[in-house]
Amino acid sequence: MNEVKTIENRWDILYHDYPEVYDRFAKVKKKHGITEVLLEMFSLREKKVADVGSGTGLSTFNLAKYAQHVIGIEPEDSMRDLAVKNAKKRHIENVEFRKGTAENMPLNDDSVDVVVAVTAASLYKRGT
Ligand SMILES: C[S@@+](CC[C@H](N)C(=O)[O-])C[C@H]1O[C@@H](n2cnc3c(N)ncnc32)[C@H](O)[C@@H]1O
Repeated sequence: MNEVKTIENRWDILYHDYPEVYDRFAKVKKKHGITEVLLEMFSLREKKVADVGSGTGLSTFNLAKYAQHVIGIEPEDSMRDLAVKNAKKRHIENVEFRKGTAENMPLNDDSVDVVVAVTAASLYKRGT
C-alpha cells in the first residue's frame, strides 16, 4: 500500500522546498489585509519599513504601495529568491530583500521607521 505523504503543519518544508506552492496559496484574496489594518492606525507615507518574515514578498509588495521603501527580511533562500524574482517581474523598485531572522535582523540601528511581521511572528524562537 502506498504511504500517503503529507506536509501538514510542516511550514518549514513548504517554505524550503515549495515556495511556488506557498506563493499560490498565500495569494488567495483576503477581505481585509494586515496592511490595511495598519493604515487605519497610521500613515506609511515616506516611511522606511522592515517586513520581517517576508516570504515570497506578498506582504512586502503590499506595504510598498504605501511606504517609501520596504526591506523584506527572510531566512529561507528559496522564499527570498522567489520574492526577488516577483519584484522584478512586477517592476516594483522600492523593495529589497535581505537574508535574516527576527532574532538577528540585518538592519542598522535607526535605519527603519516601522517594523512589521505579517503572519510570521509565531515562527520566532521563544526566549530569544
Ligand atoms: C506565513 S509566511 C509569511 C510571508 C509573508 N509575510 C506573507 O504575508 O506572505 C512566514 C515566513 O516567515 C519566515 N520565518 C520563519 N522563521 C522566521 C524567523 N525566525 N525570522 C523571520 N522570518 C521567519 C518563513 O521562512 C516564512 O517565509
